Amino acid sequence: MFGKKESPKINEAIQSTPVTQPILEKSSAAPELYAKIPVLIIREAQYSDKEQIYELGSQIPELQCSKEETFLTKDDLAGMIENYSNKTMIAEIQEKIIGFAIGQKEGQDYGCIYFVGIDPKYRNRGLGKALLKSVEDKLHVDTVYLLATNESAIQVFEKLGYKKGKTLTYMSRSLH
Ligand SMILES: CC(C)(COP(=O)(O)OP(=O)(O)OC[C@H]1O[C@@H](n2cnc3c(N)ncnc32)[C@H](O)[C@@H]1OP(=O)(O)O)[C@@H](O)C(=O)NCCC(=O)NCCS
Repeated sequence: MFGKKESPKINEAIQSTPVTQPILEKSSAAPELYAKIPVLIIREAQYSDKEQIYELGSQIPELQCSKEETFLTKDDLAGMIENYSNKTMIAEIQEKIIGFAIGQKEGQDYGCIYFVGIDPKYRNRGLGKALLKSVEDKLHVDTVYLLATNESAIQVFEKLGYKKGKTLTYMSRSLH
C-alpha cells in the first residue's frame, strides 16, 4: 500500500499529532487509510454519543451499583451530557467508543468524577489516565472527588495521585 518513502512520513504524523485530533477524517481523500490505521481520538462527548457510552457503561460490571441499580439510565446520561457543567470525555477508535470518563463541576472550587470506564480489551494502556486527566483539566477546579467502587480502581486512582478519604460503606436492606 505505502511506498517506502511515504510510510515514515505517516509514522511521523502519527507521533506528532495530538491524540485529540484525527489524522485523517473519514471523509478525506483516503478513506482506505482510515480503515487500515486505527486512530485514537480523545474528545468531549456529544449528545449523539450517548447510546455508545450507555452500551459500554452497561457492560462494565464494576460500574453497576447493584443488581437493581445499574449504570446510569439513558435519560440520566443524556441529561448529564447536556448539562453545561458536565465534562464527559470519550476515547474512540474508528468511531467505536472504547472508554469514557464523566465529571461535573459541583461547586466553585470542586468537581466530581462519577464514572470512568474502559473497554476491558483496552485496559492498562494509559487510557484511563488520559481520560481522567482530560476531565480534570476541563473542570477548572482546585479539587476533584471520585468514588472508587473496587480495589483495583483504588490502586489505579492512588497511582494517579488520589488519596483515600473517609471510608464509605454501601449498605442495603430488603423491605420484603
Ligand atoms: C479503573 C480503570 C478506569 C483504569 O483504566 P486503565 O486504562 O486500565 O488504566 P491506565 O492504563 O490508564 O493505568 C493508570 C495507572 O494505573 C496502573 N494500573 C492499571 N490497572 C491497574 C490495576 N488493575 N492494578 C493496579 N494498577 C493498575 C497502570 O499501570 C498505570 O500506572 P502508571 O501511570 O504508573 O503507569 C479501568 O480498569 C476500568 O474501566 N475498570 C472498570 C471500571 C471501574 O472500576 N471504574 C472505576 C470506578 S468509577
